[in-house]
Amino acid sequence: MARILITGGAGLIGSNLVRRLLPHHEVFVVDNLWRGKLENLHDQGKSILPNPANFHQLDLTDYQNCLKITQGMDVVYHLADIVAGINYVFSNQYFLYRQNTLINTNTLRAAIENKVKTFIYVGTACSFPLEKQQEVNCPPLKEEDTYPAHPESSYGWSKLMGEYECELAREEKLIDVGILRFHNVYGPPCELSPEKSQVIPALCRKAAKYPAEPFIVWGSGQQKRAFVHVDDVIDALIAVREKGLNQGVIQIGPAQSNSIREIAETIVRISGKNISIQYDLSKPEGDKDRTADFSKATRILGWSPRVDLQTGLERTYRWCNEYINRQR
Ligand SMILES: NC(=O)c1ccc[n+]([C@@H]2O[C@H](COP(=O)([O-])OP(=O)(O)OC[C@H]3O[C@@H](n4cnc5c(N)ncnc54)[C@H](O)[C@@H]3O)[C@@H](O)[C@H]2O)c1
Repeated sequence: MARILITGGAGLIGSNLVRRLLPHHEVFVVDNLWRGKLENLHDQGKSILPNPANFHQLDLTDYQNCLKITQGMDVVYHLADIVAGINYVFSNQYFLYRQNTLINTNTLRAAIENKVKTFIYVGTACSFPLEKQQEVNCPPLKEEDTYPAHPESSYGWSKLMGEYECELAREEKLIDVGILRFHNVYGPPCELSPEKSQVIPALCRKAAKYPAEPFIVWGSGQQKRAFVHVDDVIDALIAVREKGLNQGVIQIGPAQSNSIREIAETIVRISGKNISIQYDLSKPEGDKDRTADFSKATRILGWSPRVDLQTGLERTYRWCNEYINRQR
């Protein structure tokens, strides 16, 4: 039974990973609850952690906290960072870059200092160069398309610098490293606030609250993304520890993308409501399109996406609707 620390374990991906690892390992969670919630680690009001003291509310921008929390761990799954919707990302570029850079460098350094055997890092498809995502239907991205680097946002840069630092540590044999790079992850439990939510939860919220909240899509809706369900992402996180260490960046996402218009229309259909969709062209829409060539993930991890978009959106909408109804 390994001692496993999950940073950002109260968030979307982290809390799902905690649930998957708990039956087999001793799991510890650290999160400062910037976006994550304790309730994501609860079932019927009770902590799912056999020992609730294994949850630590600490800020990983502080190196001493990182040293304390990584002590005695065999594995660190490092998921903590500032991730939010497009408006938050482009309105807080300096804060976001600095937070993520500090969180990443401190956590990795502390893991090395404490002789943790394995460090799993997660990057983002937002780190791919802007010019390779400028047309709709552009070819699927490969891992080697990353450089020369030119991410659109400081979020993409901060996550890329985290990958780079992990690669340096691996090259110098300081620690075993697994690196996954995710496309757009969705699924429950998700952040629904207007300030910090990403596109699918935001559209689910608007549909669930309609007509109290208008159903407004940001941008033209023509922009496309490759959406991957959180259950598929957890499969990859489990597999990378078993089969994907020290093999560079491995991309996780589907080879097909869907336009935000398609996503919005599907969510409206799932809601069963008579919703009029509005498009706000004054809002940012980010890159035009991107998809994943996931052949490296298949070759090394045996990974391919399993949850189809319709099923994934139905599950996500149901969760969001129930959550919102509970708050009323
Ligand atoms: N959700 C996506 O679409 C997506 C896509 C690509 C990569 N990723 C990466 O996956 C990882 C997890 O993302 P997620 O979607 O679960 O996001 P999330 O926001 O749900 O989880 C991140 C967690 O980190 C915590 N955190 C933030 N700052 C912290 C700090 N200073 N100290 C301690 N904890 C802190 C937050 O409270 C949150 O619970 C992130 O590294 C993110 O960059 C996510």
